[in-house]
Amino acid sequence: MSTKPYDVLVVGTGAAGLTAALTAAEHGASVLMLTKGHAPDSSSWHAQGGIAGAIGDDDTAELHAVDTERAGRELCRQSAVRVLVEEGPERVRELIALGVPFDPELNLEGGHSRRRVSSVDGAATGWAVTSLLSRHAVASERIATREATAVLSLIVSGGRCLGVVTPEGSVTATATILAMGGAAALWARTTNPPGQIGDAVAMAMAAGAAVADMEFMQFHPTVLEGSRLLLSEALRGAGATLLDDNGERFVDELAPRDEVARAIFRRGHAFLDLRSIDRPHFGSLMVEIEKSGFDPATQPIPVSPAAHYTIGGVVTDLVGRTDIAALYAAGECAATGVHGANRLASNSLLECLVFGRRAALAALDEAPLPAAAFPAREFAAEAAPALQERVAPAQLRDQVWRQAGVVRDPAGLAELANSPDPVAAVVARFALARAESRGVHYRIDAPKLNPVLEGHFVLRPGQGLILEQWT
Ligand code: SIN
Repeated sequence: MSTKPYDVLVVGTGAAGLTAALTAAEHGASVLMLTKGHAPDSSSWHAQGGIAGAIGDDDTAELHAVDTERAGRELCRQSAVRVLVEEGPERVRELIALGVPFDPELNLEGGHSRRRVSSVDGAATGWAVTSLLSRHAVASERIATREATAVLSLIVSGGRCLGVVTPEGSVTATATILAMGGAAALWARTTNPPGQIGDAVAMAMAAGAAVADMEFMQFHPTVLEGSRLLLSEALRGAGATLLDDNGERFVDELAPRDEVARAIFRRGHAFLDLRSIDRPHFGSLMVEIEKSGFDPATQPIPVSPAAHYTIGGVVTDLVGRTDIAALYAAGECAATGVHGANRLASNSLLECLVFGRRAALAALDEAPLPAAAFPAREFAAEAAPALQERVAPAQLRDQVWRQAGVVRDPAGLAELANSPDPVAAVVARFALARAESRGVHYRIDAPKLNPVLEGHFVLRPGQGLILEQWT
């Protein structure tokens, strides 16, 4: 692999990575994008519902902030929320200008007080946005992409990140941006592609960066039973109802996601009734449901919760800077605090656009690497044999689902905290420390919110968990 340093190295090819790469390239930077799989393996490609953004006539950034904070259960970092909701509309308009064929009407989703979700074909938004950004990246002569290239570790020297080690050698860059998605595929039941097992968190921790909020795994309530096909919240926004085994409704379908997920989990499963909604509006999703053997026109569809979105991650400031100089993180792998204890629906693609761009702009200001900082080839030769790509065997994923699932108990978490997998273990440690129930984190032994725990648990190398207030 070439030892030529890039200006910006982006690890990940989802919405955050593509936004960061395109932003950096537009400003004249040379960019390399690396991904261990192939571009469509990222969670962004599979995102359905859409992109929240206050662009409707009856909407404001302030209202979007109120909804985001209400869903986040007293834990959203207010400065991050302000950035998200204030810069969001411009990012959505840029996508419109770029040619994303958004539906004419804004969608409604759980926890939103206004219709503010821009979608494509009802629920094919992630694919439409990410594939368009990807085409632009391919067309850019400043952006190179290498797929099927795992990143084994970060290269950090003198407190500064110099790049990454891959099985083929090392890659150096003035700035490195992690945009590697979340960890939900560590849970047996998940909506995420199999590679989403928290590699950014594992690597960042190993390199000495802080991680936070790892107890907060968001479970999506309505995932087709026996599969990872998500049945978008937008369906409920359009009037789909949830029925129990007796055909009775049992929950407000548009309550925040954590409440709906637990209400279904308590029953084991539920049925999503799509018979009375405008199904052609969700054309491609209806086709997927039919391919799975169900007829949404005649039968309610069996659903249950699955791990969906990792709220925690590598601690960053509002421009993606981590604790390690020249190392940035953006999108799902970052912990900005913007989602608090429960992410509002469709705020995640927005987060990728807003914070991916911010990270790239900040990365462009990094001072060039000193000439002495190019141990690339030698470093790889020394370091690589000790490193291996992480995998998540079925046994581990079953254990994480059982012991750190929708409902958690301290005994299970204590056992999981001894897992040899660093991400599974850290999730359990955080979940043990948060001896309360808040947002997506539910402890059966402590079912109420405890105001004393209002704050973000942060883990820094060599220290125990510390509860911090983020403003
Ligand atoms: C959905 O369409 O329900 C998922 C969107 C999201 O996770 O925000």
